[in-house]
Amino acid sequence: MESPAELPLLEVEDLRTSFVTPDGTVPAVDGVTFAISRGRTLALVGESGSGKSVTAYSLLRLIQPPGRILGGKILLRSARAGAIDLGQLDERSELLYRVRGGLISMIFQEPMTALSPVHAVGPQIAEAILLHQHTSRSEARRRTVEMLARVGLDAPDRRFDQYPHELSGGMRQRVVIAMALVCRPELLIADEPTTALDVTLQAQILGLIRTLQREIGCSVLLITHDFGVVAQMADDVAVMHHGRIVERGPVRAVLQHPQHPYTRSLLEALPSRRARVA
Ligand SMILES: Nc1ncnc2c1ncn2[C@@H]1O[C@H](COP(=O)(O)OP(=O)(O)O)[C@@H](O)[C@H]1O
Ligand SMILES: [Mg+2]
Repeated sequence: MESPAELPLLEVEDLRTSFVTPDGTVPAVDGVTFAISRGRTLALVGESGSGKSVTAYSLLRLIQPPGRILGGKILLRSARAGAIDLGQLDERSELLYRVRGGLISMIFQEPMTALSPVHAVGPQIAEAILLHQHTSRSEARRRTVEMLARVGLDAPDRRFDQYPHELSGGMRQRVVIAMALVCRPELLIADEPTTALDVTLQAQILGLIRTLQREIGCSVLLITHDFGVVAQMADDVAVMHHGRIVERGPVRAVLQHPQHPYTRSLLEALPSRRARVA
């Protein structure tokens, strides 16, 4: 028998999420199945509108009406909290709050989704620590400052009291990463974490996520439309198209021998990158 450590951290099976609009029902996620092993990075790649974000939001049960999860299994095998079927949890259950930000954290595409503009950044991170761990305010502050330094902010003691608008876009994204990882989640979901940044910053931020992932030992679900990012970051890749996964496999295999026409068309859109990877 396999020991729990060898079973995937996350198993998603036949996930279906739809939006009911005046024009009809949109099956945004239409029977998606994938698994992520411990310490691995799975890239979910596809064009805009293919259902990547809706998949991520579904995992954390953050789908708002008129959206609804119609079915599927979302099994998290947490080392800290045991096996949890996220699909079955009550909206208001304690465990769901423990999962969000504690066991699974998310970096949203737009940093200001995660940061409140009316609070200084340090207290927002400290608050996340206090929410998920039994610790004192002074200890939460100490760990926040340490984390701000860890993600590459200079003068972290002073940054603690700054507001998001006082920071550059790159620094804000570093703060978001600090907030996402300070509670050492078992899974990090990063939804296009560098799309809003220029190319030089993109590489730095992706490198930072990779380094911290190794330190913490967490798994990553990386959402991107960019196969260059996939090649740099991921172990495995799942290609999403119209709410379905059309191809999956180890990154190198998919990049070198794409089987599905949609995967090929995505790769052909990036000729220089493909050449570099292959
Ligand atoms: N709030 C919403 N209302 C209606 N339809 C939505 C909503 N959010 C997403 N969708 C539908 O779900 C599809 C997938 O969206 P999304 O997961 O955000 O795509 P992406 O792959 O770019 O992240 C979209 O094409 C859209 O049709
Ligand atoms: Mg998206």
